[in-house]
Amino acid sequence: MSSLDGTVLVTGGAGYIGSHTVRALREAGRDVVVYDSLELGRREAVIDAPLVIGNIADSDLVTATCNEHGVTQLVHFAAYKAVGESMKSPAKYWRNNVAGSVELYEACLAAGVHDVVFSSSCSVNGTPAAVPVSEDAPIHPESVYAESKAMVERILHWCGQTTPLRSVALRYFNAAGASFDARIGEDWTYSQNLVPLAMKALLLGNPRLTVFGNDYDTPDGTCIRDYIHVDDLADAHVRALDYLGSGGDTTVLNIGTGVGSSVLEVLEATARAAGEDVPHDIMDRRPGDPVITYADASLANATLGWRARYGLIEIIDSAYAWHRQQVDRSLPRESQES
Ligand SMILES: NC(=O)c1ccc[n+]([C@@H]2O[C@H](COP(=O)([O-])OP(=O)(O)OC[C@H]3O[C@@H](n4cnc5c(N)ncnc54)[C@H](O)[C@@H]3O)[C@@H](O)[C@H]2O)c1
Repeated sequence: MSSLDGTVLVTGGAGYIGSHTVRALREAGRDVVVYDSLELGRREAVIDAPLVIGNIADSDLVTATCNEHGVTQLVHFAAYKAVGESMKSPAKYWRNNVAGSVELYEACLAAGVHDVVFSSSCSVNGTPAAVPVSEDAPIHPESVYAESKAMVERILHWCGQTTPLRSVALRYFNAAGASFDARIGEDWTYSQNLVPLAMKALLLGNPRLTVFGNDYDTPDGTCIRDYIHVDDLADAHVRALDYLGSGGDTTVLNIGTGVGSSVLEVLEATARAAGEDVPHDIMDRRPGDPVITYADASLANATLGWRARYGLIEIIDSAYAWHRQQVDRSLPRESQES
């Protein structure tokens, strides 16, 4: 039996990127079991996929879940991701992101699960010396969070040398957008990312968005990032599992569009979608922000046949529709009518 015939264990599947990937996997005909503590995820985001509530460090529960559901492949999203928090509480990140991953891989190996897709991040490269950023750019994490991702990449490399485990570490650039039916999307309660913060400023007016620096050496003076639609990310995971199930070797792949957008371009696209400007203030530069980063994703294309289908317009339009609907739902009927 191929590992592609079994169930996919999706840790962190109730979170933002995980929930979109669960949907994509099911649409591709895969059986899935979501494994999430729900500390930062939402039960509704799983829709009707099987859900086990637990911590990745609970080896007994991971093993029991693998055995009960016939798990043959793992997609591992579960982690903390707040860069600022990681600098204030580093042990929390070493424990959850690094030690938790080790426990998870051990339990999966013991249950005969050998195919792993791991959520890494372009932040492992820190401030890139050159753009577009390719996979062989120097590893230079500038936060505890980024270092935790770089460490797990190395752990996976050594798992590949010492065990039957084979892995694809996907280095995401800036995940953004929502499902096109506005059913699932990013939770702005927890997110520190530009798109949800801009939507919050636009739809609630409070807090206003802070733009950190408009005097960088870029066309409009603001920082440039590679925003990748969450459904394009989800598609990369489906393909990475296919690749591993067909015998592919351990590898690391950048997942981005290859196109950089400035902060002001994101705000302009948001204003166009909403028909009104995003309330914002320009402040001083923030230490540690790379000026420009965007991906060379040609290796993902060559390895997985993957390429991004969507750009900034689809990202902003889908995010706006999702957040607009969340706000409409949370308002009492009278205030919507007034
Ligand atoms: N969002 C981005 O732009 C981005 C970029 C690069 C990498 N990543 C990585 O992608 C992954 C998913 O990111 P996201 O934006 O969907 O985050 P998210 O916070 O929405 O989802 C993470 C999920 O993992 C769960 N979780 C955390 N620790 C757990 C544990 N110990 N046991 C069980 N469940 C646990 C949370 O409850 C949550 O549902 C993370 O590993 C993140 O570091 C995200």
